[in-house]
Amino acid sequence: MPEFKVEEWLGFIFVNTSGTAAPLAPQLEGMLPYLKNYHPEERHSTETWFEEWSTNWKCLIENFMEGYHLSITHAKTLDHVTPTRLCEKLASGPGFTAYRSNYDPTFPQREPFPEDLTEQERRSSVLFNVYPNFVITVGPNCAVFLILLPETPETVNIKMGVLVQEGADDLPETAEYIALAHEFNAEDKVTLEAMQKNTKTAHRPMAPLAPDALEGTIWDFTRHMARLTTGEAGA
Ligand SMILES: [Fe+2]
Repeated sequence: MPEFKVEEWLGFIFVNTSGTAAPLAPQLEGMLPYLKNYHPEERHSTETWFEEWSTNWKCLIENFMEGYHLSITHAKTLDHVTPTRLCEKLASGPGFTAYRSNYDPTFPQREPFPEDLTEQERRSSVLFNVYPNFVITVGPNCAVFLILLPETPETVNIKMGVLVQEGADDLPETAEYIALAHEFNAEDKVTLEAMQKNTKTAHRPMAPLAPDALEGTIWDFTRHMARLTTGEAGA
């Protein structure tokens, strides 16, 4: 049987299938200041499920990692919580890119949350892409992660899950958040599958990226993929 190096990071297990990847933790060091007050090591998975979407996996990463679509794609589910106008880009690092979606001041506090959270951390979610195929949104009470396993250029298998703090599994707030996660993921699926069909037409419009606060993460991801495909980044 072949043997692979593995690395555990905040409870997630990453497998070095190529055998040539550089150690992961140093590449993600810049994420720790954003994460430490959430105590991710004390959160656990309360529900996981699998889905297959008819979209290229890179489109899903880009969609998850930009705040530009929040007020449009999620007009019913997230615009009143995390409107596009309140998004901000965070500093990225060699192994990740990130942004923060701040909550509308009128949105009720999500609970329960760790005591250490700053006022802004209580009132926002932080979204990360660990290059290339892992994304997670971390909020005060719950986190949602997606592990993307590309199947074909037009289909991707996704393992999704919700993380909560100790004792929060059976709270109504957790059930409500899980239902919301299913709902906003379903909205993204519809949009991405329609977009995948549109990539086949020669008449699709091309446009520059939006400003850094809205799509700076896409620029980071694109540059990472460019480094990866030209052999300038670890696999
Ligand atoms: Fe979305």
